[in-house]
Amino acid sequence: MNKKNELKKGIHWVGGIDWDLRDFHGYLTQRGSTYNAYLVLDKKVVLIDTVKHYLFDEMLDRIREVIDPAKINYILSNHVEMDHSGSIPKILEYAPNASVITSTQGEKGLRRHFKKDWDFHVVKSGDSLNIGRRTLKFVHTPMVHWPDNMVTYVPEEKILFSNDAFGQHIASSERFVDEMGWDIVEEEAAKYYGNIVMPYGDQVQTALKVVSGLDIEMICPSHGLIWRSLIPEIVQRYDQWSKYETEKKAVIVYDSMWGSTKKMAQMLDKGLSDAGVERTLRNLKTNHISDVITDILRSRLVLVGSPTLNNGMLPSVGELLTYLKGLRPRDRVGFAFGSFGWGGQAVGEIKKIFTELKWKVPEKSVNLKFIPEEKELDFVREVGNQLGEYILKQE
Ligand code: FEO
Repeated sequence: MNKKNELKKGIHWVGGIDWDLRDFHGYLTQRGSTYNAYLVLDKKVVLIDTVKHYLFDEMLDRIREVIDPAKINYILSNHVEMDHSGSIPKILEYAPNASVITSTQGEKGLRRHFKKDWDFHVVKSGDSLNIGRRTLKFVHTPMVHWPDNMVTYVPEEKILFSNDAFGQHIASSERFVDEMGWDIVEEEAAKYYGNIVMPYGDQVQTALKVVSGLDIEMICPSHGLIWRSLIPEIVQRYDQWSKYETEKKAVIVYDSMWGSTKKMAQMLDKGLSDAGVERTLRNLKTNHISDVITDILRSRLVLVGSPTLNNGMLPSVGELLTYLKGLRPRDRVGFAFGSFGWGGQAVGEIKKIFTELKWKVPEKSVNLKFIPEEKELDFVREVGNQLGEYILKQE
C-alpha cells in the first residue's frame, strides 16, 4: 500500500494523474491535472468520485492496493461532469453490488449521460448517511460548478470532500498543498476559479456560508492538491473572488497587425507605470486566453486593444471577449483602444462588450489611424496615467 496516499487512517487517495493534459475544454492546463477519487474504509466502503475514463486502470490499481473493489458498497458521485463520473460504469463492473449516491440533479445527469439504471441512492441537501464509525453529510452546492454539484463532509474526520471547489489543475506526485507551496497552488487555484467557477460568484457565497459553519481540518478537492493547511487562506480567496473583489492592478491585453496597437499598449503600460500601478501586458499572439482570465480575476482595470480587421476585431480579441462574456466578471473598469486604416469598428465592438458586462468606462476609447504620431502616443500614455490614478483613488 502506498502510505503517501493514505490521507488519514482508512481514507485513501485513489485518483488518476493526467500528466499530459494541456487542454481542458479550452483552458490551457500547462501543469496537467489530477482527478481525485477517494476511498473510505469503514463498515461500508465508499468510493468518492472517480476519474476520467482513460485513467480508469490507474484508479483501479490504486483501489486494489487497498481493498478488493468488489467490497465497495457505495460510489458517491458529488458531480456528474465526466472528469469525475467517467469511470463509474467501469468500476461498477468490479463492484456490482454498489449503490450510486448522488443528488436529485445528479441522478438525472448520470442517467442522461450513461443511459444506465443503476441502483441510485438519491440524497437531499442536509441528509446524512452513517457508514459505521463515520457519517457522510451531504450539502448541495448547485452551480459550483454544475446544477448537480454537492460536497460531502465527514464530521468524525473533519474532512470536506469539496469536488470542484478549491481545486487546481496540477499534475503532481505530491498530494498536499504544503508539499508544493502556496505560491504555485494559489496561482493555479486562481486560474481554476477564474476559468471554471467565476460566473457563479453568488452560488459560491452561498456555499461558503455553509462551509464556514463546519469544523474543517482537510479539504479534499476533485482536482490537484489537498488542503491540510492554508485552509483559511484559500477560503478567504474564494470569498474575495466570489464577491468580485479585485486588486488595484491592471491588465493590458491586445493583438496587433502591423504594430500600431502594440505601440499603444506599450504607451498605456508606461502611463500606468507613471501612476504607480502594478500591471501585466498580455499580447494574445503569445498568451493563452485562460491565463489572461487569471489576470482579469485579480485586476480592477482591464484595457483591451485591437486593430480593425474586416470591419471588426481581430479574431484573437473576439475569442477572448466571447470567453469573457460567458465568465461574466463584475465590477471592473474597462478601456478600449486600437488602430485602423479606414473602418475603425473594433474599438466600438470592444466597448459594447464592456457595456454588456456593466463595467465602468471612465475614459473615452482611443482609436488611431494607421501609424500613430508621437503626440498621439504621448496622449495614450497620459490616458494610461489617468486610468491608473482613477483606480488608485477608488475604494
Ligand atoms: Fe472537474 Fe465540473 O468538473
